[in-house]
Amino acid sequence: MKKRLGIISLFVILFAAFIAVWNYSYYEGLEEAYIPIENNNPTPMIPSETGVFERSDLGLEYANMPIDENHQRSLDGYYDNRAYHGAPPSIPHPVKEERSMGGKTCLQCHENGGFTEKFNAYAPVTPHPEMVNCRQCHVPLKTQSLFKGTNFPELEAPAVGVNNALIGSPPVIPHQIQMRENCLSCHAGPSAPKEIRVTHPERINCRQCHVLNNKEIRDIGNFSRQHSYE
Ligand code: HEC
Ligand code: HEC
Ligand code: HEC
Ligand code: HEC
Repeated sequence: MKKRLGIISLFVILFAAFIAVWNYSYYEGLEEAYIPIENNNPTPMIPSETGVFERSDLGLEYANMPIDENHQRSLDGYYDNRAYHGAPPSIPHPVKEERSMGGKTCLQCHENGGFTEKFNAYAPVTPHPEMVNCRQCHVPLKTQSLFKGTNFPELEAPAVGVNNALIGSPPVIPHQIQMRENCLSCHAGPSAPKEIRVTHPERINCRQCHVLNNKEIRDIGNFSRQHSYE
């Protein structure tokens, strides 16, 4: 009897040992490769160009996204919603909470976009999710005309499709990039106006090929002081 108990407990121990070893090697097998040393010298980035990479993880996903022909935005509609080129667009839909910070109320749709049944449209992705007080700058449109006339000259938007030096060469960026550092938020995905939806969102480093249009700088001639104190 004792001998049999001994053999049984030996097998129990062996079995438990087997489970333990198997378990260990199973989880070892699941381990992913990693780099065990720390990188103290990350690739230097040009500070003014870091915004370009903000949504770059999604580049490939954007490239593979089908185009939803029935819900595309056009540049006409895009400009209609802005007082002038570069102005904050007005909020074209009802807002649930009149007084709210944008955090959850707005970013749930505008952080990454996507289709919204109740507005039957794709939510445009915000280029600036970090500016959480959305309604400091974005307000619903209450009237179609101004309260009082103004002689403020309208700022024209630059033309699209005419910015290449040669056929097939990368167009220059015809707009300013202050508040437009995050290229993919406006140029990729289903909410991008169809005229400017980029064919190559997966190329990531946009400003490697697209340069600013510096022609806009006004020539003021030679600067001279009006008063001399000598
Ligand atoms: C349920 C999802 C949802 C929520 C929440 C939401 N939006 Fe929107 N938003 C949309 C959709 C969809 C559109 C596009 C509407 C269209 O094209 O007709 C839009 C359009 C806009 C636009 C116009 C963008 C452009 O390029 O013309 C602004 C500005 C905007 N929303 C701001 C806000 C703000 C600010 C909040 C928070 C107070 C907010 N939204 C909350 C879905 C949402
Ligand atoms: C400091 C002012 C300011 C704040 C705060 C702000 N925005 Fe904007 N937003 C702008 C301006 C200006 C533009 C137009 C940028 C341009 O056309 O160059 C814009 C553009 C947009 C657009 C349209 C992008 C496109 O396709 O042109 C969306 C969507 C948007 N904002 C959503 C938001 C949301 C959501 C928040 C809050 C998390 C927010 N904004 C906070 C000023 C602001
Ligand atoms: C706030 C939205 C927004 C952001 C962010 C943005 N763009 Fe644009 N882009 C536009 C719009 C709108 C146009 C059409 C001209 C205009 O209205 O300024 C345009 C036009 C262009 C064009 C000209 C396309 C053609 O066919 O002529 C290029 C190139 C371009 N953008 C590159 C970029 C690059 C590179 C970045 C990132 C540094 C960027 N854009 C960021 C909205 C944006
Ligand atoms: C390797 C160089 C290169 C990179 C990187 C690059 N582009 Fe382009 N881009 C081009 C060329 C070349 C064209 C002109 C294509 C043509 O005329 O057929 C172009 C065209 C465009 C256009 C006009 C519409 C179109 O798709 O033809 C836009 C908008 C644009 N690029 C935006 C972007 C954005 C946003 C990024 C970053 C995600 C980017 N590009 C990265 C080379 C590049």
